[in-house]
Amino acid sequence: MNVHAPALATEHQLDDATSVFAGDVIEDLAQHPKKLSPKYFYDAKGSELFEQITVLPEYYPTRTELSILRDRGKEIAAIIPHGAALIEFGAGATTKVRLLLKRCQFGAYVPVDISGDFLNAQADGLRKDFPDLDVYPVAADFTAPFELPAAISGMPKVGFFPGSTLGNFEPHEAAAFLRTARKILGDGAQMIIGVDLEKDERTLYDAYNDKAGVTARFNLNVLERINRELGGNFDLSGFMHRSIYNKDRHRIEMHLISRKAQNVRVLGHSFSFRPGESIHTENSYKYSLERFAELARGAGWKVTESWTDKARMFSVHALVASD
Ligand code: AVI
Repeated sequence: MNVHAPALATEHQLDDATSVFAGDVIEDLAQHPKKLSPKYFYDAKGSELFEQITVLPEYYPTRTELSILRDRGKEIAAIIPHGAALIEFGAGATTKVRLLLKRCQFGAYVPVDISGDFLNAQADGLRKDFPDLDVYPVAADFTAPFELPAAISGMPKVGFFPGSTLGNFEPHEAAAFLRTARKILGDGAQMIIGVDLEKDERTLYDAYNDKAGVTARFNLNVLERINRELGGNFDLSGFMHRSIYNKDRHRIEMHLISRKAQNVRVLGHSFSFRPGESIHTENSYKYSLERFAELARGAGWKVTESWTDKARMFSVHALVASD
């Protein structure tokens, strides 16, 4: 039960998910410095904007990861046991998983995502294109322990976590996720994971400050979502997008900067902003091959292969559960 729910219910009738969103927003905007969780970027509009980001000329991660999965398909297929179950943590566009499904002889595919509707639509499309593949969608928060379908209990397990989504977790959260995945998948499991690499500052800066302004719209959309779903009164023109590379912490930071002194109300709570004050909306951690291997090792996984593109922009790792 969300602690804020009784107070909020007096103004709006909120469903459970919206009530959790409201509680997080009110708590996070009261922090110094203010923040918002990046998981709230992905409503329908945010997901659409993210899809647009993935094809921007400056945003190299998606196409580079795809090129690695394509170029190394044979090597990946060679390490996947015949008839294994592929468990994907989070279910986005199916382009990446289709590459694996085409190359490797999987016995089942288990996409895991909090959004049941999205999952089912995705599963239907895959069933049509891979009629011999058993697809068992699981609607769950993949960062917490969940049950795998009984139908795959006898199959070798291979986890799949592409897109460098791991980079949006704080390092301790990334370790906790890998540990949970290790527990869910069990002894002998493998994992294929995409991780963005540290690189020159200019390339990183441009990838999160695209000329067309799509990343800015993606960032600002979280305020629009607060207005829409929680009846907030953010004036979007009063905030600007800022992404910077924090070299010491190996991360891109996204912020929304208040252009002026202003007050914003959300569900009866008032938040005041100084000119130039930031809401920290996202971190996107970048790893070296060594730092990722160390993170994985500490969470019960051994890196057996690390594939990169020629320019060493992005990495795809094969992991095996260690004792
Ligand atoms: C989803 N995630 C890996 C993206 C990233 O690069 O950290 C989210 C994103 N934020 C701004 N652009 C893309």
